[in-house]
Amino acid sequence: MSNTIQSLRGMKDLTGTESELFIYFIENASKIAQKYGFSYIETPLLEETALFKRSVGESSDIVNKEMYQFIDKGQNDVCLRPEGTAGVVRHFVEKKLDRAGGTYKWYYYGPMFRYERPQKGRLREFHQFGCEVFGISSVYEDANIISLIKEILDFFGIGFTLKLNSLGCADCMPKYKENLVKHISNFKEKLCEDCNKRLMTNPIRVLDCKVESCKQLLENAPKITNSLCNSCNNDFEKLKEILDFNNISYEVDSNLVRGLDYYNKTAFEFVSSEIGAQSAIAGGGRYDRLVEFLGGKSTSGIGFAIGIERLLELVKIKEKKEDFIYIGVLDEISLNQAFEVAIKKRKTIKTHLEYTPRGFAKHFANAQKLGCNIVALIGEKELNDGTIYIKNLDTKEEENINLGDF
Ligand code: HAM
Repeated sequence: MSNTIQSLRGMKDLTGTESELFIYFIENASKIAQKYGFSYIETPLLEETALFKRSVGESSDIVNKEMYQFIDKGQNDVCLRPEGTAGVVRHFVEKKLDRAGGTYKWYYYGPMFRYERPQKGRLREFHQFGCEVFGISSVYEDANIISLIKEILDFFGIGFTLKLNSLGCADCMPKYKENLVKHISNFKEKLCEDCNKRLMTNPIRVLDCKVESCKQLLENAPKITNSLCNSCNNDFEKLKEILDFNNISYEVDSNLVRGLDYYNKTAFEFVSSEIGAQSAIAGGGRYDRLVEFLGGKSTSGIGFAIGIERLLELVKIKEKKEDFIYIGVLDEISLNQAFEVAIKKRKTIKTHLEYTPRGFAKHFANAQKLGCNIVALIGEKELNDGTIYIKNLDTKEEENINLGDF
């Protein structure tokens, strides 16, 4: 039996090109969020389990089946965060910002944990980049958030479809749920086991069941978009108008209910057809009652999160790759000189210094392995005439130049 230890199922190390892309994404997404007036927030990875039960909802799959939950040494019921919104709302209420009034905009990124069945695009530890806004009820902010996500996806050259829905409010949603349950009662027993459970806990979740027979049975189900109260309907119409006016395309999908229970009014998902079955790159919406659910004073909220792993599948680095210099020596006596050159070069350019003396070919191979594009070598000859040998690995050009010109 092997005694090596491997990473847990659905969890992976981030290294090499992937980790470079990760940093590249965070830097640029952060800049865009900052341009929209967001500032950075970091909340703990571990929170009280009750936080997620009261926000994401006890009927959601996330809380029901997917939490990394345990009792800590102080007998506290805690869990690794399955998403980022709840922690930010907890902070907002804890700091009494609901009482202070005003608007607050935060962005965050980091790992989230869900004990799901791993598959392509679905991990147990994954990373999100998210934004949350408090204190703005205007539907223009819904459009603003959508525009922010679009700007991030556009920056990285990612194609997407925006799916849009309105989930109504405390006035119209309960009536809609009643109608839906009434409609379904005729063929309830034909729905899958999960749908039957959902009917008891949160009936609208049957609308996004992936089982083909359920989908067919629900084809003629009443649509929430036809049951909205005046206020929700006006907001939804206005949102569509703003998006149309700003050339942001969308598809209304009245079956888009989201897997978290805290949403009302606007709900959306950005999906891509290029990453397989787990097609949602980003999701979010309005959560005007969540602050209350967590014991605060009623405050409007809206936000989104991008799944970084799914997005990175699609990212093409836009900027030209930076130079990466490899400095090597052909003999031991040249190392002092090379060390001094490397320290100077690193002030402006990413530089690797190789300590082991080697021949030309071995240095080239090593440089390539490290991802360097320029090789600079010093040997006895170069030491004596004050030069350095340079080879550009992309163009294959090579020359000896004065050390001072390097
Ligand atoms: P969510 O739709 O559950 O929303 O997750 C957002 C994104 O995280 C998804 O669109 C997907 O790209 C990524 N994601 C989710 N689960 C996994 C997984 N198991 N493996 C890889 N990627 C995954 C939320 O989490 C909300 N907190 C978003 C939000 C913020 N709503 C308002 N504010």
